[in-house]
Amino acid sequence: MTRPRTLLLAATLLSLAACNDAAPATADAGSLAATPTDAAAATDVAIAADASLAPEDVPAPERFSYVPMGCTHRVRAPLGSTNNSRDDRTTFGAAPDPRDVHVNWPADPSSTIAFLWRTDPGTRATVVQYGLSPTALDQTAVGSVGTAGLTGNQVTAHEVHVCGLRPDTTYHYRVGGEGHWSAVQRFKTGPAPGRTDYDVRFVVAGDSRDDVSRWRQLQERAMGGMNPPDFEVFTGDAVLVGFLQGQWQSWFEGARSAMSTVPFVMVHGNHEGLSVNYLMQVAQPQSGVSSQDELYFSLDYGPVHLVVLNDTPLRSDYEGDVLGTQLAWLRADLARAAGNRARVPFIIATHHKPAFASSSHSDEIDTQAVRRGWAPVYDEFGVDLVLNGHEHDFELSKEIDGQGREVSGRRGTRYVVTGGAGASLTTLGGALQPWGAHFESAHHIVEVHATMTRLELTPRRIDGTVIEAGRVSLTPRTP
Ligand SMILES: [Fe+2]
Ligand SMILES: [Fe+2]
Repeated sequence: MTRPRTLLLAATLLSLAACNDAAPATADAGSLAATPTDAAAATDVAIAADASLAPEDVPAPERFSYVPMGCTHRVRAPLGSTNNSRDDRTTFGAAPDPRDVHVNWPADPSSTIAFLWRTDPGTRATVVQYGLSPTALDQTAVGSVGTAGLTGNQVTAHEVHVCGLRPDTTYHYRVGGEGHWSAVQRFKTGPAPGRTDYDVRFVVAGDSRDDVSRWRQLQERAMGGMNPPDFEVFTGDAVLVGFLQGQWQSWFEGARSAMSTVPFVMVHGNHEGLSVNYLMQVAQPQSGVSSQDELYFSLDYGPVHLVVLNDTPLRSDYEGDVLGTQLAWLRADLARAAGNRARVPFIIATHHKPAFASSSHSDEIDTQAVRRGWAPVYDEFGVDLVLNGHEHDFELSKEIDGQGREVSGRRGTRYVVTGGAGASLTTLGGALQPWGAHFESAHHIVEVHATMTRLELTPRRIDGTVIEAGRVSLTPRTP
């Protein structure tokens, strides 16, 4: 097992070296194949000798899983993580003060939250105090830790899940352990399921990659402009090299004020490369049918059903995953969502690589697989909007069917590429494809506002101005 792992590490490093911003036309050429983790058998404790890009002297990891106290969902530590332990309140290492504190949804947004942060590898204490007032953090939860990353690049990733929270409620919290607490932060839970009088506002951004200063600037705009949003969707390619922890640290620091308050919904991009660093630093719902935990799932938030997919699977397994297991899961999920339109009128899908875009990657084999496999299903079940990244620009499609043909009368889907959160920009290099409505090579974010009667998108450039030709306003389809 040692030799293939070494070869794959070398191959991945070579493909990363070939992937740079000096050549934007090929910078995301899909060559960042996922790490060679074959997790087909998602048993609670699975051994995989070539499970990660870990150095050869690290023992093969055991896959650790548990149900957090008070929760019904199971958490599975990613393959490649080591030394998982739980319920420690007192072990501190050399640098125990919490870094990169952030919140994710591990299950239902109205009642659950996951707190995540990092410390030095020696710190195991993993405690959260929370409550309804910043001066009354009267609840305590203890979580799990794991160590990840290549040698010289290791951190302890701390993760605490809390369930049974009240809907639509602001909670205050701090993380760490006695003597080493973070600042007190706050977050708000989502509306109760089935509630039909809730306006949701969220931000979409993607492809920050190696420009932390633009990323920081856009995050400050996102938090100020929506004062703050309910959540943020990140469409993938957070960092240039997913298994380099230093890059993650910069990325989290760039979004620090946003991420400690606003849950991020993360889409896996090809630059994350299924690295253990990525997997250990997000906590998301699980599809329940796959070894690819936390990479595809769906959730409801007020008037929006949000479907998150992963188009960069293990070994780029398009036939088995994208066009197999994941497609079957998507179809079942969308059938349920389409039957629930009276209560949740808008269906939004998000994944990294756009099925329909006009710029450089539109003819690649993985893009074509997504177009062939998923776009017809979006069309069949009436997905209103698809949010992607991968292309470092903004693009809005016409209202189109599953083959990219223009349709009218709310019978089609709008595709939005939003990959402008920092990385060097992609230019169009030719004419728009027939499905394209507007393209702009700009650093930007997209603001989304949804009510029961309207879904509105406002793309905003880094200087605060609005991309007017990219605005969208949709009414619900007839259930
Ligand atoms: Fe990208
Ligand atoms: Fe990408």
